[in-house]
Amino acid sequence: MLKTHTCGELRAADAGKTVTLAGWVNRRRDHGGLIFLDLRDRFGITQVTVSDDSALDAPNGANPCNNGQDRAHALKTASQVRSEFVVQVSGEVQKRPQGFENSELETGEVEVIASRLEILNEARTPPFVISGSQADDVDEAVRLKYRYLDLRRPKLADNLRLRHEIVRFIRSFLYDRAFLEIETPILLKSTPEGARDFVVPSRIHPGRFYALPQSPQQMKQLLMIAGVERYFQIARCFRDEDLRADRQPEFTQLDLEMSFVEASDIMALIEKMMIELSALVSDKPIQQVPFPVLSYEDALARYGIDRPDLRFGLELFDVTELVRNSKFGVFKNAAAAGGIIKGLRFPGGASLSRKEIDDLIEYVRPYGAKGLAWIAINGQCGADGRYPPESLRSPIVKFFSAEETDGILRAAVAEEGDLILMVADDADVTNPALANLRMEIGARANLIDPNLLAFCWVVDFPLLDYNKDEERWEATHHPFTSARDEDWSILEERPGDVRAKAYDVVLNGWEIGGGSIRIHRSEQQMRMFQRLGLNESEVDEKFGHMLEAFQYGAPPHGGIAMGIERVVALYADAPSIREVMAFPKTATGTDLLMEAPSRVDDRQLAELHIAVRDQGSD
Ligand code: AMO
Ligand code: AMP
Repeated sequence: MLKTHTCGELRAADAGKTVTLAGWVNRRRDHGGLIFLDLRDRFGITQVTVSDDSALDAPNGANPCNNGQDRAHALKTASQVRSEFVVQVSGEVQKRPQGFENSELETGEVEVIASRLEILNEARTPPFVISGSQADDVDEAVRLKYRYLDLRRPKLADNLRLRHEIVRFIRSFLYDRAFLEIETPILLKSTPEGARDFVVPSRIHPGRFYALPQSPQQMKQLLMIAGVERYFQIARCFRDEDLRADRQPEFTQLDLEMSFVEASDIMALIEKMMIELSALVSDKPIQQVPFPVLSYEDALARYGIDRPDLRFGLELFDVTELVRNSKFGVFKNAAAAGGIIKGLRFPGGASLSRKEIDDLIEYVRPYGAKGLAWIAINGQCGADGRYPPESLRSPIVKFFSAEETDGILRAAVAEEGDLILMVADDADVTNPALANLRMEIGARANLIDPNLLAFCWVVDFPLLDYNKDEERWEATHHPFTSARDEDWSILEERPGDVRAKAYDVVLNGWEIGGGSIRIHRSEQQMRMFQRLGLNESEVDEKFGHMLEAFQYGAPPHGGIAMGIERVVALYADAPSIREVMAFPKTATGTDLLMEAPSRVDDRQLAELHIAVRDQGSD
């Protein structure tokens, strides 16, 4: 071994020991005849003192190689050393003189007095500073190109460690409960989860392609038919979709499936796992145990979104019926067109200027909202429980009767100082627009407690979603999800009302996992495929193997998949899942380090029976 200790290990009790450390020079401070090197490895930082001053020698002269010549040589070497050089240091551990301890370092009580210093490798000046927090401001593209340097930063190194701890915990939690860890193929056939597939051409079978799995969904169901009963995998999934802070083209799931279970069994298992995991890796308390369970409908009504952040209240209110016949054209027309009118309070927002209020529209416009109607409450509520007109500032109250205004303020549970904000539009505009505005207001009004883990379950999702552009029904989760027993009868007549046996687990507004009880009967699966508009030959080509497998004794089964990166990012307080992945891709799906995707040469293409039509531009 080139080291006897790590750079995070030495304490006051080690004083007097002769040690050898190796690592990177985090920082070098040169005081002429005295040079300090902060030596860093994955485990921490230790101060190394290099000097030609014999006064620093061990009092008992215990270190045999510690003579003047060695010291002078070490000092000369230290003067050549630069940040990120890889060095090896031998010397004696000493307690730092009183008043020179560094409480920010775990090793801050000691220093190593170098008797020998060797440069193991030099380093070019890195493109960004690795120590300190300045690296947070570095352009992410530079960080990703030099990811191996970025990962030296303690924050990112810590994220990798945390991810490891979390996966290790998950594995042991499931091993203890008789789950089998089984790997499933990456080169496979399309397993749809609502995104596009990545495909891989086959050399041996001209014109044929493998699809990378969007999840191991079908494989894990086949494993249930195989009698595995309890399966899990830390599984890589591939989805060609538009990327965001919480989405990557390849990511990792804890994928899990069980036989002979109901939704409540899967939910109880995951809840226990998340509670134990939280205790292990976080100091933050869980807001509510058992986790609150919201129906999809309820979540949408109250928060405008199926992954509500429950760290704060601020629920939406609905005034559609109240203003349906009002004189305010925007509201009246939206209601007449089948839309909804909802809003929320901005506590303390009444003091915003006209311009500041107009600027809030930014938070709703990306969702298609055409405006934000508002009422600022600048005065007190009268004895009759109503706000007198002079206490209200608003461009729209003039269109309302006193009853309508009063009704809106009651629905909003408005208080003095509030700004009431409303959107009128189709539900699929109003809800997401206000959900986004709610998060912004939560942040501005300081309502979001960052030291809280607010879990919830969202259940009773619709089984099917109507795709307006393509004029057909799509599976909300995936086509293997079962309808609730009592809803099968309306699958054909009222597809939009069918509820699924599906559940999502949400943490602080992020969907961290989702799953369902599956269809396990061939004829029901066939009905589902037909409802999705697949004809018999399409079903046979795409999913014939599943229908056939269901005919050989498929047990009732269900499962869930947790997004590992999202879970880790939440516990790491990271703003993006890229921060918890060793080698993530950019928002356009490129790997800046290896420069992928890249062209392949013509011979390779020929072998794969592929001709490229559009070479793109460089
Ligand atoms: P679903 O598609 O909901 O379900 O995915 C499960 C969880 O995986 C995470 N996730 C992602 N994380 C990062 N980048 C992505 N592009 C991405 N997409 C999804 C989310 C999500 O909750 N087979 C089903 C599960 C099942 O039914 O058992 C599935 O994959 O945290
Ligand atoms: P207008 O009549 O277009 O001048 O709009 C009057 C007020 O209603 C303005 O404050 C607009 O921002 C707001 N507004 C316009 N369209 C909508 C809408 N779809 N939902 C809510 N408010 C709107």
